Amino acid sequence: MSASGEVWAVLLAAGSGTRLAQAVGGVKKQFLEWKGFPLFWHSALTFSKTPAVKGIVFVFPPDQLEEMRSVVAGLDGADSLGMPFRVTAGGRRRQDSVFNGLNELPTGCTHVLVHDSARPFASAAMVTGIIDMLQSGMEAVIPAVEVTDTIKEVEGSVVSRTLVRSRLKAVQTPQGFSLPVLYAAHRQAEQEGWDVTDDASMVEMAGRDVHICAGEEGNVKITNPEDLKRIENTGRTIPCVGWGYDVHRYGEGRPMVLGGVPIPGGPQVIAHSDGDVLLHALSDAILGLFGGGDIGHHFPDTSAACENMSSGIILKEVMIKAEEAGVEIVHVDLTVIAQIPKLSPHRELIRKNIASVMGLEKEQVNVKATTEEKLGFTGEKKGIKAVAAVTGLKTFS
Ligand code: CTP
Ligand code: MG
Repeated sequence: MSASGEVWAVLLAAGSGTRLAQAVGGVKKQFLEWKGFPLFWHSALTFSKTPAVKGIVFVFPPDQLEEMRSVVAGLDGADSLGMPFRVTAGGRRRQDSVFNGLNELPTGCTHVLVHDSARPFASAAMVTGIIDMLQSGMEAVIPAVEVTDTIKEVEGSVVSRTLVRSRLKAVQTPQGFSLPVLYAAHRQAEQEGWDVTDDASMVEMAGRDVHICAGEEGNVKITNPEDLKRIENTGRTIPCVGWGYDVHRYGEGRPMVLGGVPIPGGPQVIAHSDGDVLLHALSDAILGLFGGGDIGHHFPDTSAACENMSSGIILKEVMIKAEEAGVEIVHVDLTVIAQIPKLSPHRELIRKNIASVMGLEKEQVNVKATTEEKLGFTGEKKGIKAVAAVTGLKTFS
């Protein structure tokens, strides 16, 4: 392969998925949604992670070509593949779709990887291995795995022959070829009426050497209803942590409330809302769990509607936002930092109140208090601060 040669992928997504159609309400399997994307897009992402692949030709059913052109543009717009791509219409048989794809390749392309979009699990490492073998001069390289079943040829319901298993391999895609070799084989197939199920077959029939490389057991083709369990949308859950911080100044203002609990005899606080420094820190931490911004954004103190707003309401609203974002809150750790008032008499009540408002067990909420050893503004009794750390579980569909 010359240094200037380009490797492109032809990604086949023009089949009708008849063996699966009934089980999935008629949707073509390459368009089934898995991990937030249509199935065919997963293979495109794999190619995008393979530096040696320079571009992709997507092959779609002719009657869905325009629709799919904008779907692909939208997916690439949201998170770019980082490579050029083209879109074309497939044909009646798989080999017709491949041929249409080959005709869309740019002039600089010297090698092609033909891949079934129904194989979403092929790894970038395997793709790179195939390209390496093409670069070493091989004209055709296909991934193959051992056959575990004994394979028999049958006529009707009677066995005519048993094949020697040790000499058999099951082959997969992507299959890599020198473009002129594959193109010539397709032309010959057309002229001589060959009807084949993979591209390597026609290259073999054209008398060329096809080399195998190690395929992957996991690189299965979604074909029958039993295969659907491999692409079930079970969702992925990851832990997330939000952090919040708030300060209020002491002065003539509002009676002190902490964690929704009135603190009789505590210094008054100056605040636009009810001045509950602990619930403000907690609410900000909850927003932090899912990239929700901060409470200043959602409840601006320039807004008349937020004047006197109970922090309990703010807390409930941010909890609804967290739920809408697919986040379950599993733990809350809170610290109040103040020289005065003494908080130990109120700590348990605050903990119980927050647990009850948030629908958590008491053990899922921790409330701590500390002074700053008479240092800084809390030490000088000019104000109070609170910090909050919240742990959540975010589920991605
Ligand atoms: N394919 C294609 N054009 C065709 C037939 C198949 O692009 N005319 C693609 C399919 O979209 C699939 C791959 O070739 O990604 C392998 O084919 P297969 O698993 O047989 O898919 P379908 O033909 O869609 O399924 P079925 O045979 O059950 O109808
Ligand atoms: Mg088919």
